[in-house]
Amino acid sequence: MGTCRAGWVREGELRTACAAKCGKKAGETEGPTLVVIDVRSAGGRRGVLKATGRAGVRRSNDRISALRRMAMFATSLGDGAELRPLEPWRAEEFLAHMDRGRDFIGAHMELPDLATDLDSARSYLQLYADKAASDSGRLYGIWLDGTLVGGVSFPKFDAAAGICEAGCWLEPAATGRGLVGCAARLIIDWAFNERGIHRVQWFVSPNNTPSINVAKRLGMTREGVLREIYLYRGVRHDAEVWSVLAPEWQALGN
Ligand SMILES: CC(C)(COP(=O)(O)OP(=O)(O)OC[C@H]1O[C@@H](n2cnc3c(N)ncnc32)[C@H](O)[C@@H]1OP(=O)(O)O)[C@@H](O)C(=O)NCCC(=O)NCCS
Repeated sequence: MGTCRAGWVREGELRTACAAKCGKKAGETEGPTLVVIDVRSAGGRRGVLKATGRAGVRRSNDRISALRRMAMFATSLGDGAELRPLEPWRAEEFLAHMDRGRDFIGAHMELPDLATDLDSARSYLQLYADKAASDSGRLYGIWLDGTLVGGVSFPKFDAAAGICEAGCWLEPAATGRGLVGCAARLIIDWAFNERGIHRVQWFVSPNNTPSINVAKRLGMTREGVLREIYLYRGVRHDAEVWSVLAPEWQALGN
């Protein structure tokens, strides 16, 4: 048993498991010889991470970091902030984050009302895990110095129709740093350049000036108002519709 430069430990061989996959009889195999992870960046660049059963990972840590960024396991937003998929196993920290921002976030969106205890927090994250699996939505968290402080999402994502909706939130302590603008830019870029989306929509209360400012900074155009479309906490609210189209996004230099 030896360690490779990347720190992987060779533990042994999954002989029959490999035999089943490669069609050899048990006992004839020499263990897995090559694992290839193929990732494509937002700009269409490809990266390939190769590892062998005997030699371990063959790429430098720098290369692996670059691949992690492309795969969006953790994307730096600068100054100690990171964007990562927000998944069901993070329910506890998600709930703690909601508890810190419940009143502030809940002023304009129902998210805090959907995550009031551990079970409902996990269910909310699972809903998005299911959406991601069916390619109908995504959820990403924003971490600042290791603490979950907000997120960006695609509540609706329809690649066939070329349309998606983007959303965002922050707990109060994380506002005023450009975190959501930067995170939203990344996921919208992914939607346009990687997924061929044509139109990204943003629904916002006319009273929600900070969110309207985010839409403006993203280069979105205000299209109009959907009157009393949003029933929230027993009151019907208007929603402004903002959007940016793929050619506009490219023209903005994104
Ligand atoms: C909407 C919301 C996410 C906006 O938060 P925000 O902090 O204003 O947005 P950003 O993270 O993009 O930060 C932009 C602000 O940071 C400032 N900023 C500071 N450093 C910055 C930097 N390096 N880069 C960019 N902006 C920076 C900007 O000037 C801007 O502040 P300003 O609007 O006072 O000029 C927040 O108000 C919120 O969570 N509200 C409650 C939930 C909600 O309403 N969600 C939206 C539903 S539609």
